[in-house]
Amino acid sequence: MSETTHPAYAEVQASQSRASAFVEVASPAQFPDSPVSRVFAQPLMLGLFLPIQAGGWSASTLPRTTDWSFDYNADLVLKAESLGFDLVFALSQWLPKGGYGGVFNGEALDSFMTLAALTARTERIILAATSHVLYGPWHPLHFAKFTATLDHISRGRWGINIVTGHRAVEHEMFGWNRIEHDRRYEMAAEFVDAVQQLWAQRDNFTFEPELSSWKLNGAFVTPKPRYGRPLLINATGSDAGIEFAARYSDVVFITSPAGPDIDRALEALPAHAAA
Ligand SMILES: Cc1cc2nc3c(=O)[nH]c(=O)nc-3n(C[C@H](O)[C@H](O)[C@H](O)COP(=O)(O)O)c2cc1C
Repeated sequence: MSETTHPAYAEVQASQSRASAFVEVASPAQFPDSPVSRVFAQPLMLGLFLPIQAGGWSASTLPRTTDWSFDYNADLVLKAESLGFDLVFALSQWLPKGGYGGVFNGEALDSFMTLAALTARTERIILAATSHVLYGPWHPLHFAKFTATLDHISRGRWGINIVTGHRAVEHEMFGWNRIEHDRRYEMAAEFVDAVQQLWAQRDNFTFEPELSSWKLNGAFVTPKPRYGRPLLINATGSDAGIEFAARYSDVVFITSPAGPDIDRALEALPAHAAA
């Protein structure tokens, strides 16, 4: 073996002994020419919830006209784009055989893969896929690289709905026990902090989280997202979830506890979200 250390490896060794400082990460909404800014300039964002799950994830035994297949969903996305919709959104689940049973039989495409395949077939519509950031666990390096790549293929139209996984059976399928509710958001915060730094840092980055099992040692990711980072969304309703969304996300996807009227819905939200 050579006595001389390769310059790239020496750089990794050097960065391991440093505590990397966090840099600020810009939202795509801060770039006037981003697809996200174009949509946010409108009073209303029109989105389509895709039926990539059998029965469109609705509880009914009536015959369905939707279909979870890729071709059906790809046609829907292209139609939505041609009609001027701003966004398509797909949910994600990890279910044992038979799903939850009954109409929720578990037959479903993967959210991330389905929308990734549509980045190159669309021109204008934003594609938002749901990701369980704690399952696996994903490594932040994989997640940052995959999503930055999709951000480039879609030219700034990639969105991520971050969820932490609330069903015990899903956690168990990955070989561990469900983590306590608020702790899940603390772990998700470590993950998103790391991913954001990988998107934003111009130098190798080192980070050792307190709660999660992964580490970053002199880590670096290219490409850098075109407009700071992809669109970030949270689907949540709890205080901890909304707190998390307020800190990281551009959009909160929420079911209103007070019905469809926007003023009443805002009144019913926790104070930190309505402010
Ligand atoms: C509109 C909406 C969409 C959601 N989509 C998903 C999903 O695709 N996959 C999932 O595992 N959880 C999904 N969730 C569940 C949330 O991620 C979260 O686990 C659940 O709301 C419980 O967390 P909370 O106590 O923070 O609200 C969704 C929740 C809402 C309100």
